[in-house]
Amino acid sequence: MADAFDPQHAPRLEDPARLEALPQATVVSLLRLDGAETVVDYGAGTGVYTVAVAAALPQGRVIAVEALPRLAQMLRDKLTPELAERLELVETDANTVPAADAVADRVLMVDVLHHLYDQPGALAEVVRLLRPGGLFVVVDWGDRERPAGPPLDHVLGLVAVRDIIREMGLVEVEAHEPGTQLPYHLVVVAAKP
Ligand SMILES: C[S@@+](CC[C@H](N)C(=O)[O-])C[C@H]1O[C@@H](n2cnc3c(N)ncnc32)[C@H](O)[C@@H]1O
Repeated sequence: MADAFDPQHAPRLEDPARLEALPQATVVSLLRLDGAETVVDYGAGTGVYTVAVAAALPQGRVIAVEALPRLAQMLRDKLTPELAERLELVETDANTVPAADAVADRVLMVDVLHHLYDQPGALAEVVRLLRPGGLFVVVDWGDRERPAGPPLDHVLGLVAVRDIIREMGLVEVEAHEPGTQLPYHLVVVAAKP
């Protein structure tokens, strides 16, 4: 199922049509932030959502985890000195984030779960990083007919994502098929007990 993300496709992540269908503001609102949280953006890509999340955290910070050097560099190129104070980039494909257990109030994955390298290793790292009561927010392509995005047999769909969340030992807070929160994307929010 997990198709490695092709770094040649990096510009697609910044396509205005993508950002219209998957607006940064919606992703930020799903995180339910007060502004002082620590958020891990797992599979941050070129940072189109990372930077928006950092802007919503005047007293908080973002740890951006990205495996592909080319995408990590595109994220790095977006860092102003002010952003760099609140946004730490961890470039790794080993699912070993150099941060303490329970450091994260939120972990975000946007269009990552179906691309995840070493899914068990990555999800164990998500559980380790989340504090009790912290939220894992998954936004990913749905498996219903749509005019954009990967083929339906390359994505997970809501049933599979909910199963993964349960297997992680997290408690589902909300789950939405495409067409409710976002036109083509499913949303699952789950809490660490
Ligand atoms: C489709 S891109 C999405 C990027 C970004 N979240 C966005 O929505 O713009 C998926 C990203 O997840 C990254 N990725 C997948 N598995 C990863 C892992 N185990 N550790 C770090 N990055 C990972 C890929 O390198 C790729 O940049």
